[in-house]
Amino acid sequence: MADLEGVKAEKNYHTGEPFAVKGNFHVKGMANQEWGIKKRLSNIFNPRSGNTVMFAFDHGYFMGSVSGLERLDLLIPRLRDHVDVLMATRGALRTSVQPDCRKAIALRVSAGSSMVNDDLSHETVSVDIEDAVRMNADCMAVQVFIGADGQLESIKNLSTVINAGMRYSIPTLGVVAVGKNMERTDQYFKLATRIIAELGAHIVKTYYCDKFEEVVAACPVPIVVAGGKKLAEKEALEMAYKSIQGGARGLDMGRNIFQSLHPVEMADAVGKIVHRKFTDKEAWEYYNDRVKDK
Ligand code: R5P
Repeated sequence: MADLEGVKAEKNYHTGEPFAVKGNFHVKGMANQEWGIKKRLSNIFNPRSGNTVMFAFDHGYFMGSVSGLERLDLLIPRLRDHVDVLMATRGALRTSVQPDCRKAIALRVSAGSSMVNDDLSHETVSVDIEDAVRMNADCMAVQVFIGADGQLESIKNLSTVINAGMRYSIPTLGVVAVGKNMERTDQYFKLATRIIAELGAHIVKTYYCDKFEEVVAACPVPIVVAGGKKLAEKEALEMAYKSIQGGARGLDMGRNIFQSLHPVEMADAVGKIVHRKFTDKEAWEYYNDRVKDK
């Protein structure tokens, strides 16, 4: 391991230069992957826009039934045609999502703590690879806690899932969790996203931050941005726009969609930014226009 003393601080991210290893594939850093991985990534990232709208409703795996997700059986049929990917636990999928659904599936495969714990960073792999294969998962999602007590466990979980996924060509989505002693800064997100990508994850989910374009430039796989806590719709659309402008290849949004007064219209407005190059202002006008008579 390199000596940590005297590490040079200045860095050049070449943010104006596109990712150089392209091959004939639309997903960053994936040109040299196997056919099955590329097929599943193409189910997630629209080959035309290169982007994705993931709808996250996996909160129950540690939060129980959060506001807006009390009845998945009623919510998902309303929303599923308005997003590209459903991100959920196997329990939610098997009980509450019809298998005729043609959307890509991001299967949550790590678990281990709940909101009543002070430290959420201790997790384990909760789903066998065979079950991910049975469910036809397009990727498997693992929480990674860099800088937290559970860092080592979560890196083991990530590695276990990547190794198993590679046997069956199922990509892995590494989810950056904010550790107790780490702030939501670009330095932290650069560290966490790069570690996750170097360990072999095919997609990284993280938060928007200042200097986000540098976080993106230093991460050799696509970044999708987490929605985070509920914001006013206008603010959430602004965050979505800044993320795409900064180089994110999509949003993985939960509360800012399902806790909106108008979840379907909100999902559509996010989709306009992600796939149709709308600005935040255009998306906000589109949203208002759609909800004005409701
Ligand atoms: C959190 O660990 C889960 O991955 C959620 O799916 C994620 O936080 C996205 O949901 P939200 O947009 O509500 O933060």
